[in-house]
Amino acid sequence: MQVHVADHPLIQHKLTYLRDKRTDSPTFRRLAEELVTLLAYEATREVRTEPFPIETPVAATTGIKLANPKPVIVPILRAGLGMLEGMVRLLPSAEVGFLGMVRDEETLEVSAYANRLPESLHGRQVFVIDPMLATGHTLIMAFEFLRDLGADDITAVCLLGAPEGIATVEEAVADIGIPVRLVLGSIDEKLNDKGYIVPGLGDAGDRLYGVV
Ligand code: URA
Repeated sequence: MQVHVADHPLIQHKLTYLRDKRTDSPTFRRLAEELVTLLAYEATREVRTEPFPIETPVAATTGIKLANPKPVIVPILRAGLGMLEGMVRLLPSAEVGFLGMVRDEETLEVSAYANRLPESLHGRQVFVIDPMLATGHTLIMAFEFLRDLGADDITAVCLLGAPEGIATVEEAVADIGIPVRLVLGSIDEKLNDKGYIVPGLGDAGDRLYGVV
């Protein structure tokens, strides 16, 4: 599994404000969007393209364009929704599917409660967006789900990751059987005993959308 930490100073600057508990929800949402657009630039480095002949006002030439079938972006509900705008800004022609997953706060076990995805992802590149890679269980379940629908290449984009979760995902990916890439804004120090990333930013869903 390729792991890429996009440690650009602008990303770290925005992450610092995102982490700060004084940052209100509207600012948090705007920063999350801006961060994702920066991370998406790295995450799409291997997006598939095809040759595209055009004529400039001066000469005929061959450029490139995104290949068909177009990539699919899959936010993990609910917190992944806060990353969607930033991602589609960079990939406006991508399709968007949804995967709803929830973590039991006692056992930290993850279960899927909803999905809206193409019937087949055969031959599709998929970009999974989920702000927090904590235990890694959500991402592993999402990867298996998408692989079973036919996805043949997955990139996960996360704002923050915990070393424990990244190691767990890395181990599971060996059995998933398709290329998986991970693009993160930062690898933090650790997970605490409640499964929160330290120093992290708290509950990403709550900070985006309030406690519901
Ligand atoms: N999910 C969150 O929203 N925050 C964490 O720190 C871990 C999981």
